[in-house]
Amino acid sequence: MKFGVLSFSFVLILELTFGTFLVEKNNLKVTSPDSIKGVYECAIGNFGIPKYGGTLVGTVVYPMSNHKGCKSFSEFGVSFKSSPGSLPTFLLIDRGDCYFALKAWNAQQAGAAAILVSDNKLEPLITMDTPEEDTANADYLEKINIPSALISKSLGDSIKSAISDGNMVNMKLDWTESVPHPDERVEYELWTDSNDECGKKCDTQIEFLRNFKGAAQILEKGGYTQFTPHFITWYCPKAFMLSRQCKSQCINHGRYCAPDPEQDFTRGYDGKDVVVQNLRHACVYRVVNETGKAWKWWDYATDFSVRCPMKYNKYTSECADEVIKSLGIDLEKVYLCMGDTEGDVENPVLKAEQESQVGKGSRGDVTILPTLVVNNRQYRGKLEKGAVLKAICAGFQESTEPAICLTEDQNTNECLENNGGCWQDRAANITACLDTFRGRLCECPTVQGVKFVGDGYTHCKASGALRCGINNGGCWRETRGGYTYSACTDDHSSVCKCPPGFKGDGVKSCEDVDECKEKRACQCPECRCKNTWGSYECTCRKGLFYLRELDTCIGAFGAVKLGWSFVLILLLALTAATLSGYAIYKYRIRHYMDSEIRSIMAQYMPLDSQPNNTETHMDF
Ligand SMILES: *[C@@H]1O[C@H](CO)[C@@H](O)[C@H](O)[C@H]1NC(C)=O
Ligand SMILES: *[C@@H]1O[C@H](CO)[C@@H](O)[C@H](O)[C@H]1NC(C)=O
Repeated sequence: MKFGVLSFSFVLILELTFGTFLVEKNNLKVTSPDSIKGVYECAIGNFGIPKYGGTLVGTVVYPMSNHKGCKSFSEFGVSFKSSPGSLPTFLLIDRGDCYFALKAWNAQQAGAAAILVSDNKLEPLITMDTPEEDTANADYLEKINIPSALISKSLGDSIKSAISDGNMVNMKLDWTESVPHPDERVEYELWTDSNDECGKKCDTQIEFLRNFKGAAQILEKGGYTQFTPHFITWYCPKAFMLSRQCKSQCINHGRYCAPDPEQDFTRGYDGKDVVVQNLRHACVYRVVNETGKAWKWWDYATDFSVRCPMKYNKYTSECADEVIKSLGIDLEKVYLCMGDTEGDVENPVLKAEQESQVGKGSRGDVTILPTLVVNNRQYRGKLEKGAVLKAICAGFQESTEPAICLTEDQNTNECLENNGGCWQDRAANITACLDTFRGRLCECPTVQGVKFVGDGYTHCKASGALRCGINNGGCWRETRGGYTYSACTDDHSSVCKCPPGFKGDGVKSCEDVDECKEKRACQCPECRCKNTWGSYECTCRKGLFYLRELDTCIGAFGAVKLGWSFVLILLLALTAATLSGYAIYKYRIRHYMDSEIRSIMAQYMPLDSQPNNTETHMDF
């Protein structure tokens, strides 16, 4: 069952509660001709890449045909690519007939440097938004990288008449004042969602988090920014409180709701699961912010998206708690912050989130997910690392910008602190933390040709033939009185197994087996058993010899009495034992030499291939 009624009522609440969606604007300065010279306002589109903090100068062109830009200009054989040395082209297009974004895409394809859309009626400026995904083939949305601006019908008309009179219309698009920049610290908010199954919109958010993390953390650690993540929730109208929809989408008796991820109540996760995870995200922020390490939230959000996705059924509290613990965040404090999510009570954190949804001052209401707010102004444009960084950098008072604003992709090593929350073997100095320009990754390493496998967060294990060469493959190993025993085997199994004569988990410990007590050997009436570490010694009563292969005592001369047939069998058995002993000796020598040669070679080249023989081989 779909939730048409409910989503309608959610929309209704938004319409009723909020009424101040602010149109974000920038300046447009017409420099020629004199007749229309002046500064005008235009509205920044919610797609493409506005040049926050910058300006762009160009010449306006109004196409001869395809006025609305709904068709590709290549069909008309025209190009608006500016020739070298001339000003870039701003293509003027009329509103109507197709999506704004499609017009922008066609303009970009034809070589325009920016698109100006002239409104088709007299009204205040509006924000040009992207089409809903399911109603449009939105592939091109991602590729739009020119700035877009909506201008009023009257300005559009005067530009058109100036052009038709033979004038060259030049203008400057100016975004330098689009973000307030009062001081040396930028405050910004990201209104986001932990939901990862809503299609392109969710994918874009997750990708943005991952890509922007590095820059966000540099800015936050340097004290240049104060970042706050926010989460939108809705509330269930009273009349629907007992409906199945509200019960599956809301917590705290209808107070805080989120839409069902798959829009299907019968399968997968419910809206209330999303609300709880969002609450956890908000609380993780509060806890790390309290300790002055707000930047850690980015690690949590990105790790959570990697480790706990819905598609692997890991969108759970248990998984989230693991992530929190591995980042060294105080789990108890997080739960204290989350409070009671079941009862008929208000949740202070979510209540605060709902209150901050309502616009204040220069910032309008937040109704679109995701929304980025920089210095209390809503960011318009694509949610993409470079574009967002530009917007944030435009928020610093001149000359107080941090280095990252001036040179791209500055780097710091995020593995230095808490090992980036990744797996590590401190004793062997091996880590899964990888510092990259996109922030740190937790990935099991390859060390001296030995590949480690695992999730990179909680475990990595050496695998392959050479694994015992590094930290003994993570297995137990001990030397006593000149004897060394190891639980590592040079095979593909990558498990640790105690050698014969020992028992245990093979990782932390292997205990000597007392062969005498456990009656495993040396049990004949004439035998006297003595346990040793890893083995045993057996002696016989005076005049008898112990035969290890047969685990029995025989008399030196007594054998004669036993008759020829027994002696023959004994001799055969002895020969067989000697031969097989020799064979094992030869094999071990060869194997030993093989692994010696391999480890020598491994110092010169990485050996990824495994040896062909897979027999196990123990050290003893
Ligand atoms: C985060 O910490 C800063 C400074 O300590 C504080 O001003 C801000 O209110 C905190 N934000 C939240 C959401 O707790
Ligand atoms: C650990 O390894 C890294 C690089 O492999 C090296 O720079 C560092 O000095 C090593 N630390 C110790 C304690 O051996």
